This record gives sequence, C-alpha cells and structure tokens, in this order.
Amino acid sequence: MPEIEKMTSASVGATSAGNVGTTPVGTTGTTPVGSTGATPVGANDERSAAQAVRQMFDEIAPRYDFANHTLSMNVDRLWWRRTAKTFSHILKRNDACVLDLCAGTGDMAVALRSEADRVKSSAAICALDFSHQMLSHGLSKYSQRNIQPVEADALQLPLREASADLVVSAFGFRNLANYDAGLRQIFRVLKPGGEVGILDFGEPGGLMGKLYGFYFRYILPRIGTWISGVRGPYEYLPASVKKFPAPQQMLSRMEAAGFKDVSWTPYTFGIAGLYRGRK
Ligand SMILES: C[S@@+](CC[C@H](N)C(=O)[O-])C[C@H]1O[C@@H](n2cnc3c(N)ncnc32)[C@H](O)[C@@H]1O
Repeated sequence: MPEIEKMTSASVGATSAGNVGTTPVGTTGTTPVGSTGATPVGANDERSAAQAVRQMFDEIAPRYDFANHTLSMNVDRLWWRRTAKTFSHILKRNDACVLDLCAGTGDMAVALRSEADRVKSSAAICALDFSHQMLSHGLSKYSQRNIQPVEADALQLPLREASADLVVSAFGFRNLANYDAGLRQIFRVLKPGGEVGILDFGEPGGLMGKLYGFYFRYILPRIGTWISGVRGPYEYLPASVKKFPAPQQMLSRMEAAGFKDVSWTPYTFGIAGLYRGRK
C-alpha cells in the first residue's frame, strides 16, 4: 500500500511521485462566502465552508463509491474514461506529471492511469484530496495503479510553480470554497503549455433537463442519504450544482485566471461537462 503523503504549507520536499514539492500559496481565509465558491449549510466564510466540505466527505467516504455508481447508474465511469482519453496526448509522455485534484477515492486517477497504460506510458500520477477518509478508502486502487495519494488542500497546493503537465479535477472543483482561487492555483502549478480539465455536473435544458432536474433535486438526495446513511451531503449536491457558474461564466473565470483556448464540452445532454484550458 502506498502511504498517503500529508502535505501542508509547512511541508518541505518532494513526494515520491516526482515533481511535487512545496511552494504553497495559501488562499483559504476568513473571506465571506458569496458567489465565489461552495457554500454548505451553516458556512459563513471560506474556512468554515472548506471544513464543512471536508467533514461531509470524511463522513460519506465508506459508502461513496457505491452511492456514486448507483446514483449515476454507472454513467460516471464513462465520463471519467472520456475525460482521460481527451488528455491522451499528454498522458502518453513518460515524463508527464499529472495531478488529479480533489481525487477522493480515486476513480478519475484510475481512468488516467488506464489511459496512460493504454498508450504505454509511465506518466507520474498524483491524487490529491484534503479528506483523509476519502483517500484512505481509495488506497487499494492507488496502490494497484502506482498512483501517489497526497493529502492536501486544493487552495494551498503543495506543488512548485510550473511543475505539472496536466491537472484534472472530477466533481471536486465545484466544492472549493473559492473557485477563482482554485483556478489561480491550478494555473500556477501548470507548466507553460500545460492543460487543465475540470469535469463537473451541469444543468441540462429542455425536456431532458426538466426530467433530470426532478431526479437530481428530489430523488437523488433521498436515495443518496439512504445509501450513505448520512444526512446532508446528498442535499448539498444539487445546491452546489445550482451555485456553480454556468458554462459561459466559468469559461470567463478561466480566462481571467490566465487560461487560453478555453472550452466546455457537454457530456450526456449536459448532465456533466468538461471544461478545458491551456496555460
Ligand atoms: C465529489 S468528490 C469527487 C471525488 C472524485 N474526483 C470522483 O470523481 O469521484 C469531491 C472531492 O473533493 C474533495 N475536495 C473538496 N474541496 C477540496 C479542497 N479544497 N482540497 C482538496 N480536496 C477537496 C473532497 O474531499 C472530495 O473527496
């Protein structure tokens, strides 16, 4: 089993995955949460929002994978795979340094490794999350796939400037207490020419959107609460998607953070979608 590397702003050195060293730039503070980031119930500043998110994921970690696959009817697996394939041109490089941000129990990182294997590459892949429980429940996946788990905050990334070739985040970025700060962190750690991929839920329009919206707002929270045995996280999910910037606004935020060639590709009628950008 790999050990989870715990990295804070006080950590110094490099992880066993290579390029990850520290020059963290702290951003989570006592800024009030407004339109800038996730706002779990009861949170009134960025610090308490981040704490509430971490506690929520620590609590649902034991049932997270099962709940996820059940609620998405396994479509999530297609989304991770499709995202990984999108970045095949980077993954195929043996010297590529890849970061799965907000990696949780690791399914996005596993899809990235599978794609790297498919193109016969030994790219280094790190899976970073601030929930110890989520990383712990992914440990067997991480060890089997030579992925280095790192326990750290996405808003205080323990990576050197310009050290990563690719940063991918699946269903995690939306949970950050400050989206713009998250984008700035990703931009900082990417090498010039490096790419970002943010896979997250959207709000599809039309009849499909109405049907899905009903499922997402009223059915999913009940089933999720029942499966996980924890009240809260699956009620927070639709609220967090509603609060997340719409595609055009998110693309503008990415440009403001410095990204070029930004785009959004809807997956499955826009239920999810992939944001891309280049440094
Ligand atoms: C919905 S899960 C997604 C996990 C995984 N990427 C997937 O696709 O299943 C969101 C993850 O983001 C993590 N997360 C949220 N905010 C974070 C932050 N500021 N720093 C690091 N991880 C964070 C949570 O701990 C949680 O594991």
